[in-house]
Amino acid sequence: MQIDFEKVNFTYNKKTPYENKVLKNINLKIEKNSFTAIIGKTGSGKSTLIEHINGLLIPEEGIVKVENFIIERKTKRKDIKELEKNLIELRKNVAILFQFSEQQLFETTVLKDIIYGALNYGFTLEYAEKKARELLNLVGLDESYLNRSPFELSGGEMRKVALCGVLAMEPKVLVLDEATVGLDFKSKVEFLNLINKIYKEKELTIVFVTHNMDYVLEYATNIVIVKNGVIAFETKNKQKFLEIIKNENYNLVVPELIKFQELLENNGVKLSKIHYNYNDFLEDIKLMIGDSYE
Ligand SMILES: Nc1ncnc2c1ncn2[C@@H]1O[C@H](COP(=O)(O)OP(=O)(O)OP(=O)(O)O)[C@@H](O)[C@H]1O
Ligand SMILES: [Mg+2]
Repeated sequence: MQIDFEKVNFTYNKKTPYENKVLKNINLKIEKNSFTAIIGKTGSGKSTLIEHINGLLIPEEGIVKVENFIIERKTKRKDIKELEKNLIELRKNVAILFQFSEQQLFETTVLKDIIYGALNYGFTLEYAEKKARELLNLVGLDESYLNRSPFELSGGEMRKVALCGVLAMEPKVLVLDEATVGLDFKSKVEFLNLINKIYKEKELTIVFVTHNMDYVLEYATNIVIVKNGVIAFETKNKQKFLEIIKNENYNLVVPELIKFQELLENNGVKLSKIHYNYNDFLEDIKLMIGDSYE
C-alpha cells in the first residue's frame, strides 16, 4: 500500500505548558512494496511519525493517506464515528510491531495468541489455525510450540510469536519500530533475515524504524532521515546515504560493515568493491583467500 503524508503537523499536549510540536509540515511518500527505513537521532519524531500510519495518532493538521484510507482530524461527531470505523478496517491492513513486542503477548498458549487478532477481524477459527501453523513454520518454530505458554519462550521466540500474531491478520503494511531492541546479536540477525524473507515472499510494504545503520545498508530500499520533526533527507541510493551520514550532522554512525572494509583497504587489502551486505563481503574474502592458495 502506498502511504502519503501531506502537510502533516503534530503537537503533543497542545495548549498546555508541555506543548511540544513534534512533526512539522511533513510531506512524505512511502512507496508500495518498499522496505523503507526511518532513521534519525533519538527524539527526532520517528515513532510519532509512524504512529500516524495506522491512526494511533491523528494529524493535528494535514492528512495521511494509506491507499484509499484517509486519516485526518474530524470535529463533527458523525465524522469522528466514521473515522473510527475506517480506522478499524485500516488496522487490519497496517500492523505495527513495537520495541519489546513480546509485551504484546497475553494468551495462555502460542496458538491462541497468534489467532487472537485474526479472529477479531473476522477470520474463521479453522482458517486462523491453519494460518498460525503456516506462520509458525515460516518463522522457524515447529508445531510443538502451538500449545506452549508464550511466557516460557526465549525473548527471540516470543518476538517471532508476536510477529506471527500480526501477520495472521494478513496485513499489507508492516511497521517495525525498533523491533530488534533487546535481542542478542544472533536473534537480531535471525529476526531481520526473517523480516526480509517475509518482505520478499508476501509483497508487503515495510516501514522500519531503526538506529542500526548496518540494517539500513543491507535491507532498506528507501531511506528517510528525520531531524527535529522534519524530513531532512530521502534517498534510494546507498552511496548517497553513506555520504550523507559521513558529511552531515545527523548524529548517525557509519555502518560497521563499511568501517571494517575501509579498515581493510587502508591496510592494503584490495576488495573488488565496497559491499553493502555481509554475504557479498564474505564471498569476496573467500575468493581472495582462495587466490592466495594458488
Ligand atoms: N506520548 C507523548 N507525550 C508527550 N510527548 C511525547 C510523547 N511521545 C513522544 N513525545 C516527545 O516527542 C518527541 C519525539 O518523540 P518520538 O518518540 O517520536 O521520537 P523518536 O525519534 O521515536 O525517538 P527514539 O529514537 O528515542 O525512539 C520527543 O521530544 C518526545 O519527548
Ligand atoms: Mg521511537
